[in-house]
Amino acid sequence: MTTSSLQTSVAVFALVALHVSALDTFIAAVYEHAVILPEKTETPVSQDNALLLMNKNIDILEKAIKQAAQQGAEIIVTPEDALYGWSFTRETIFPYLEDIPDPRVNWIPCQDPHKFGHTPVQVRLSCLAKDNSIYVLANIGDKKPCKSNDPTCPSNGYYQYNTNVVYDKKGQLVARYHKYHLYSEPQFDVPEKPELVTFNTNFGKFGIFTCFDILFHDPAVKLVKDFRVDTILLPTAWMNVLPLLTAIEFHSAWAMGMRVNLLVANTHHVRLNMTGSGIYAPHSPKAYHYDMDTELGKILFSKVDSHPRSSPDFPAAVNWADYATTIKPFPVQKGTFKGFISRDAFNFTELSASAGDLTVCQKDLCCHLSYEMSRKEENEVYALGAFSGLHGRRGREYWQVCTMLKCRTTDVTTCGQPVETALTRFNVFSLSGTFGTEYVFPEVLLTKIRLSPGKFEVLKDGRLVNKNGMSEPILTVSLFGRWYAKDAHSASGGIGNLETTNLLISTLLMITILQIL
Ligand SMILES: *[C@@H]1O[C@H](CO)[C@@H](O)[C@H](O)[C@H]1NC(C)=O
Ligand SMILES: *[C@@H]1O[C@H](CO)[C@@H](O)[C@H](O)[C@H]1NC(C)=O
Repeated sequence: MTTSSLQTSVAVFALVALHVSALDTFIAAVYEHAVILPEKTETPVSQDNALLLMNKNIDILEKAIKQAAQQGAEIIVTPEDALYGWSFTRETIFPYLEDIPDPRVNWIPCQDPHKFGHTPVQVRLSCLAKDNSIYVLANIGDKKPCKSNDPTCPSNGYYQYNTNVVYDKKGQLVARYHKYHLYSEPQFDVPEKPELVTFNTNFGKFGIFTCFDILFHDPAVKLVKDFRVDTILLPTAWMNVLPLLTAIEFHSAWAMGMRVNLLVANTHHVRLNMTGSGIYAPHSPKAYHYDMDTELGKILFSKVDSHPRSSPDFPAAVNWADYATTIKPFPVQKGTFKGFISRDAFNFTELSASAGDLTVCQKDLCCHLSYEMSRKEENEVYALGAFSGLHGRRGREYWQVCTMLKCRTTDVTTCGQPVETALTRFNVFSLSGTFGTEYVFPEVLLTKIRLSPGKFEVLKDGRLVNKNGMSEPILTVSLFGRWYAKDAHSASGGIGNLETTNLLISTLLMITILQIL
């Protein structure tokens, strides 16, 4: 055999091997972990004590990883902050941090434990992946030394990052991601720019980010749109906020709106409303967990398509404003009223009859609803709401939301406030809106915080409609739109705007202080 024909046969063999071992579907696992928290302290603990606590948490994760491997899972996702919790200063988190190298160093910590200094947590996680032959995603803390001549170098000489790591079945570090959109985390620094981290497997292409990142364009949307990943891995420490931002509700809707698999592992902490993990496919949730009754962790499994875009279940692209902009709006009712969801002022209109067609508008967004309740309950009031504007206290993210929701009481001033139970079932609902954005996430949340897989769908013209008969009692049916280009500082507009905003805020503060004085 000549060298070239040998090369050819090796190449052909490699191709065949690759083809044979490529999986059309795989079993995914996510683990909701009840984190063992450190005792409150204002002075940093020793590195040994920090490791002791992290090892206690890893002992629990180890059981989940073993169980996942026994069930044939290819990959397991564990939650954000799962090794040490969330209450820290820059100083008190420091003993928990390790220097995590760039995956390009091709490092298997389990086989070469001393290659990058003192890294016991990375070594243990790598060995868990290797010994159980399963991909493991964990969230740990990274510290990166910086030089004092670097003007942004923090005073302790380290950047500190909230970090996801992924080890493959050989225990090799294959991905490292530093969280970009921090949510009140003074212990961590924001990386210079959003990182776009992907890795390839024989069960599809993966992208990763963390918790609050999911509300923004970069890296979340970019990974799906430009990098065409099949599955997103999302560790989170998500505090549920009704009516629109409960973990299971928003995450399942994001997977549907973005048409991507999404594997979410939340921490479990009932007192802080942290619960809600799931395995979400583009057409429907596959498995989810929400538990406000116990302090227990929970593992979830499901079979998932490796390449959802080539699956027969893959939903068609939606033109979100198509229906809403072509119909003649329903007559706007008298008695449109203002109501609040958190700090956002919605325009609401009441569903006063047991069936009807309603329109409510705010700015350029008009929301249309056609509905038929199976019975008008005496003690329940529903309203249709519209919001288009910068959201919340920080006023940075531009939201466009159409929502039909149950009001907390029969007093309409409570519309938009959290409520967890309902009795009203709908024979028909059809919700649409004149969205200016192509990023809309369809949410349906039932009484007692449950999802409604298989009982609703989104039509190509942008209508969110019920399916397969009468619904279960409904808390909210919503179209949650994110208009990233109108954010107060968009990714492309970047730092400049942020600085201007900060300058503005400090100037305003100064003026206020001067006035008080
Ligand atoms: C948890 O959720 C409930 C109901 O939505 C709310 O009243 C409460 O304030 C939340 N707790 C925290 C700590 O956010
Ligand atoms: C809806 O809200 C906008 C701005 O918040 C307000 O100007 C407008 O009058 C409201 N529309 C109706 C029909 O009440």
